[in-house]
Amino acid sequence: MKRLGIMAALSQELGDLIAQMRAGGEVRTVTLGMREYHVGEAHGVPVVVTLARVGKVAAAATASALIHVFGVDAIVFTGVAGGVHADVRVGDIVVADALLQHDLDASPFFPRYEVPLLDRTRFDADRAFSDALMTAARGFIETHADALAQRFAVSEPRVHRGLVVSGDRFIASQEAVNALRDAFPDALAVEMEGAALAQVCYEHGVPCAVVRTISDTADAEAPLSFAEFLTAIAGAYSSGLLARFLTLVG
Ligand code: ADE
Repeated sequence: MKRLGIMAALSQELGDLIAQMRAGGEVRTVTLGMREYHVGEAHGVPVVVTLARVGKVAAAATASALIHVFGVDAIVFTGVAGGVHADVRVGDIVVADALLQHDLDASPFFPRYEVPLLDRTRFDADRAFSDALMTAARGFIETHADALAQRFAVSEPRVHRGLVVSGDRFIASQEAVNALRDAFPDALAVEMEGAALAQVCYEHGVPCAVVRTISDTADAEAPLSFAEFLTAIAGAYSSGLLARFLTLVG
């Protein structure tokens, strides 16, 4: 691996990764397009770590800079998501095997959800990186089950792998989450960046993977659940997951 790009939308979703990099060696920070790119090593792996901010445009622009300016040869996105499938609960971890944009609609010229002129609706995540994320997620949950239960009231969290849908909308009503379930019965989680990253990576032949911890179930409780999870828990998950993942791929 030459250099791995690591992205998140919000700082809480990166955990202590940048602090870990600084503790382990020199970190060069480059500001570009109102974003900071931290170039260094994390857990022995050469990385470029950055916050994309929220939404598909932000994710696409950041992925493009990681590829063209920083020359990364793979990108991993870490963060939180809303659970869509009935089996997915707050505190579970979802690893994407494919991603699509649930708010894309150029009908009647192209089928709904298809990316115009790319002839494609779903974008695959890289198998090997996603396998490593699954192993990291299972390892994290196994070793932290007691702490998660005691400190955060997350009981028996599980790891899932499947479809993640993305759109420029925070989903926060039973009606909206039901509409996603009807449209995509296999969707596990909803967030606002992953499919944009996956499209850019597909266009450039760069492997990518997405891991999301479930902060809410995209219903009326979502704003409160999301905010609490982000402040109290998201960082612990990301730090634990990334440490394991980087050790596996390094
Ligand atoms: N990220 C975390 N929760 C979400 C939700 N309910 N909708 C969209 N993105 C999210």
